[in-house]
Amino acid sequence: MDLLSKIQTEFIGLDTTYKLATGEGSRRIYLDSTASTLMMKAAHSAIEKFYQHYANTHSLLHFSAKISTQQYNWAHERILSFLAADPEHYTCFFTGSGSTAGINRIARVFRDYRPDRGTAFVSLMEHHSNDLPHRKHARKVVHIPFEINSGNPGCIDLETLEKELERHKSSASYVAITGVSNVTGIINPVYDIAELAHQYGAFILVDGAQMAAHLPVQISGHKNPARNIDAFVFSGHKTYVPGSPGVVICRKDILSALEPEEVGGGMVDQVFVERYTISTNFPDREEAGTPNIPGAIGLAAAIEIMDTIGMQTIYEDEDELIRYALDKILAITDVVVYGDTDCTRCPRAASISFNILGMDHGLVAAVLNDYYGIAVRNECFCAHPYVKEMIRDYLLSRVGQVDFDDLNINLKIKAGMVRASFGLYNTKEDIDLLVAALNDIQTNQAKYTPLYHIDNHGNYVHNQFDMTAANPFSVRDNLLKELEP
Ligand code: ALA
Repeated sequence: MDLLSKIQTEFIGLDTTYKLATGEGSRRIYLDSTASTLMMKAAHSAIEKFYQHYANTHSLLHFSAKISTQQYNWAHERILSFLAADPEHYTCFFTGSGSTAGINRIARVFRDYRPDRGTAFVSLMEHHSNDLPHRKHARKVVHIPFEINSGNPGCIDLETLEKELERHKSSASYVAITGVSNVTGIINPVYDIAELAHQYGAFILVDGAQMAAHLPVQISGHKNPARNIDAFVFSGHKTYVPGSPGVVICRKDILSALEPEEVGGGMVDQVFVERYTISTNFPDREEAGTPNIPGAIGLAAAIEIMDTIGMQTIYEDEDELIRYALDKILAITDVVVYGDTDCTRCPRAASISFNILGMDHGLVAAVLNDYYGIAVRNECFCAHPYVKEMIRDYLLSRVGQVDFDDLNINLKIKAGMVRASFGLYNTKEDIDLLVAALNDIQTNQAKYTPLYHIDNHGNYVHNQFDMTAANPFSVRDNLLKELEP
């Protein structure tokens, strides 16, 4: 068996079963990897083995401190090489538990590095984590729309980006763009965008949260250096290691020019009462305090495996699955899939968001869970502007020129979508089960609707089936069982 096929079957939680509303037990079909991926078993074993040697990397001279420091250093090196970032010019550091902390950090770094250039260009495709930090920290944000009435709905409008860069060329600070949309899965041409940004003296920050685990990334070493990326951020919990940290890769020359954003132990050379001197070592100077050492090492272990398989191989394998899923979902009666659905013109990774016309996304997601054991996410996926604009655009194309607020009020449409998202472990069988379930839900709307009510939080709740009572789980109860003599 090749390594890819072996790893695909070795994730923790692939055989989890839940009791459904029908009373039957069913294997969970996990289609929510864009929110968080499952744990790669090999990475989990690596962390367990490492715990035998666990010690603080700020300690120096005992065996475990040496091993921990060495392995933690390896984690940084491994990630830089995975993302093709030249270690001479780039550093990698860990921060927070997802991409959010890293993006906030880079937004402040870019602002302070060039106080005379205050304008950030942020696409409207972004997750809030790559929008709100710029609104808060940059002096000015220009939002770049996505295409609506073109052949590429949902894709970034590069013409407008260029126009805005030209319009603000004296103040252009940076372009912040996602590598892959967490809503539509659309893959952005980040290297073309880098070239464009650099033409206008702007940096580029790529949100790699949905990119790092799904396709090859090349941060530096492009034949044309203008295509290199200045800063790249991603999340360990979306890269098959829940519990691992967020990661930032950034040009050292930019970081060196500023005092690090966070201060504390481990990033200083000397501290006196009246002053302190900051270490010149990367990544130490960017990592104040004791880091999440096991999480970082586990993430590097998962990356070692993905790199050994080859990210191009992983991309091609997932591309086949997403095309299969898209074809099948599009064939369901009265389903609308958001974003360009021609994967040859507009490649996607990991996510497909859709609605069944006439049904609330919340009801569809609840029935998928309660009657089929299929885990999807619904609502706006922390990307409100993108989701709402796309729904509005679709509705307007059907009902003519109506104000969006009126649409909400008069048509009682609660903006949101259903998202099916995929990871290394998903199979065509998972897609077939999803499609069969959606066909049933679409056909039998009238049967399912009265079985649910909406609770105070706006969620669909089954009138009789209590999913938590049917599937009890408690860490404490498990512990107590283990402690029984
Ligand atoms: N950012 C995660 C998502 O899109 C949580 O679902």
